[in-house]
Amino acid sequence: MEDKLTIKDAKLRNQIILVRTDYNVPLENGEIVSDFRIRASLPTINFLREKGAKKIILISHLGRPEGKKDKSLSLKPVALKLAELLPGVPVEFVDDVSGPDVEAAVSGLKKGGVLLLENLRFFPGEEKNSEDFIREIIDTTGATVYVQDGFAVIHRAHASTSAVSKQLPVYAGLLLEKEISALESLKNPKKPLMLMLGGAKVADKTPLIEAFKNLADHICVGGKLAAGGLPKEILEDPALKEKLYVAEDFDTDGEGNKLDCGPLSTNKFVEIAKNSKTVIWNGLLGKAEDPAFATSSTIFLKTLGESPEITSIILGGDTTGFAEELMRKDKKLEFDLLSTGGGASLEFLSGKSLPGLENIENKN
Ligand code: 3PG
Repeated sequence: MEDKLTIKDAKLRNQIILVRTDYNVPLENGEIVSDFRIRASLPTINFLREKGAKKIILISHLGRPEGKKDKSLSLKPVALKLAELLPGVPVEFVDDVSGPDVEAAVSGLKKGGVLLLENLRFFPGEEKNSEDFIREIIDTTGATVYVQDGFAVIHRAHASTSAVSKQLPVYAGLLLEKEISALESLKNPKKPLMLMLGGAKVADKTPLIEAFKNLADHICVGGKLAAGGLPKEILEDPALKEKLYVAEDFDTDGEGNKLDCGPLSTNKFVEIAKNSKTVIWNGLLGKAEDPAFATSSTIFLKTLGESPEITSIILGGDTTGFAEELMRKDKKLEFDLLSTGGGASLEFLSGKSLPGLENIENKN
């Protein structure tokens, strides 16, 4: 990271600055369940304001609307939360990413003001890594500096993480810098190392099992990932035979849906964690937003938070949100690292190259 340019190296005074954030926050009935990722973006916003930035334009994705507008995935609630977290700062929202409404919103923005644009993934150009798409945003907003602070999305080659560097020099934001240095210090973790995977992004997680098979001593799988069954090639991989444990019992709802890991599996996860020196966890072990199905995630999290001898690394929006919630109720719980990045952190730790990191300007 030392070789990359950060906002500390950029000329910021009187500039219109476009900042890629990751506001892919967990939502329930339109309400933000955890504002961890929003709070994590504040140091960069405050830094840019302190350095005299003229206008700060924030861009992000939320969910996977696949190139179509979906009201339930609008970033408007995030703008309201930002306004709450930035008292005294003008915070505006516009429900587009380019065109006349955005132009008007930028020109009406007060000096040092913050404008959040609508969900980038409402437009197919974002995931297609389209240069035209990001150029339009840059042209409409008049941005002259681009800041990459969406650490959790730098593993994606999308217009706002990849193609953008053909239009403007990209500088790292403070969150990105902090996350990378924290993860760099974990590149040689104390062993035995346990990787605990859960959550719902099945297609994303199976390659990570592959990526970690030579690094981790134990790979445990819960959540939807386990409930749906892993692909045969993973289950039959001889290199994983000794180290892979997939949840074997589940708590179900009235319709037989497997919504939480059962006691047998939870005990096994806990036992493996207690015999490990480092535990990396991404993805909840059940439908933990429903207290009836939060048991395995709660027990596992408490085990980590109450065991100072285990280096505990909690990754991703949902899992860190859940950890913060529990920490609020139980002040004794402590973790070594809470990172905004789920897939991004895991890909970084497994040594993969990340498009959104690669295209940040080098110092020389
Ligand atoms: C995440 O939540 O891991 C990031 O925001 C990336 O989201 P994605 O997996 O939908 O690309």
